[in-house]
Amino acid sequence: MDKVKELINTLKNDHRLDKEDYVFLFENRNKETDEYLFRLADEVRKENFGTDVYVRGLIEFTNVCRNDCYYCGIRAGNTNCERYRLNEREILECCRDGYELGFRTFVLQGGEDGGYDEDDIAHIVMRIRDTFPDCAITLSIGEWERKSYQRFFDAGADRYLLRHETANKAHYEKLHPETMSFEHRMKCLQDLKEIGYQVGCGFMVGSPGQTNETLADDMVFIQDFKPHMVGIGPFIPHKDTPFANEEAGTMELTLFCLGLIRLILPYGLIPSTTALGTISPVGREMGIKSGANVVMPNLSPVKNRKKYELYDNKICTGEEAAECRGCLSNRMNSIGYQIVTSRGDSPLMTK
Ligand code: 5AD
Ligand code: FES
Repeated sequence: MDKVKELINTLKNDHRLDKEDYVFLFENRNKETDEYLFRLADEVRKENFGTDVYVRGLIEFTNVCRNDCYYCGIRAGNTNCERYRLNEREILECCRDGYELGFRTFVLQGGEDGGYDEDDIAHIVMRIRDTFPDCAITLSIGEWERKSYQRFFDAGADRYLLRHETANKAHYEKLHPETMSFEHRMKCLQDLKEIGYQVGCGFMVGSPGQTNETLADDMVFIQDFKPHMVGIGPFIPHKDTPFANEEAGTMELTLFCLGLIRLILPYGLIPSTTALGTISPVGREMGIKSGANVVMPNLSPVKNRKKYELYDNKICTGEEAAECRGCLSNRMNSIGYQIVTSRGDSPLMTK
């Protein structure tokens, strides 16, 4: 059998490969081997999760950010970005709307906004915890000190998403200004795991400077770190960033990475992302068919949506939460899967 398929089989059995084998896979994959991978990845996801797709209600509560990541549309240096913040009452209203639509996980995502201090975040988490005791709370608010992460956890947060962006230090430094540190980001991920969060890392596919080598580093990092969740989507340029003229990542390579990650993490919670839905009208459906098992419709107020533009042409910026919920249900049903409303905790956690 061809070596690509052999390596894919090995990955399915062992959930790990050496770095050079990943490089070989990225260099030698073709349409046929991609199909082979997607079939195995879909089998593994069905063994562990059937045809269920978990939903997370995404609340983009602030687009203010102190950082200047070269790829991101809400970077501090983008003076064309109109900034907004939701207050605690507005966030709770989003949760209430979401709860009525059947959401049992809320993801609070925002830029690294100094306008909310540790007390503010802890208070917001506590209020959601008290008001919706049967829901999971996920934070996605960037890098904080360990004691703050601990405080949010004690206040009732269950999960934390912090994409590592790339597991290769030299590549990390091409994507971020000097004020940001690769080591610190990795330290944050370690702290989050030790505290007891269900942790998500992730990266963009096709980001400037990414190579088969750096992608192999990402796979090795994921198999060693064993996150509960992995968020990946294609890089898409944003017109007001230093990467405005760079090329977007492709759907094919994104799906390939999703398939590999499903074989590395048979129990992983892996979203089919909005970015994937942005580069192709059927991107999210294809993501699910290649091993993903989560979708994250937007619960943010429609009036703010357009302002949380991490990349150009982001979809779902004009639709109400209920519309996205209905749209995604139909999309999942059309490919033989269905959205479920349970919390969808990692099967590897007992908390
Ligand atoms: N294209 C695709 N994804 C992006 N992100 C930020 N900017 C872009 C972009 N231009 C991703 C990053 C970040 C997550 C919230 O969104 O990986 O961690
Ligand atoms: Fe938002 Fe389809 S998911 S409109």
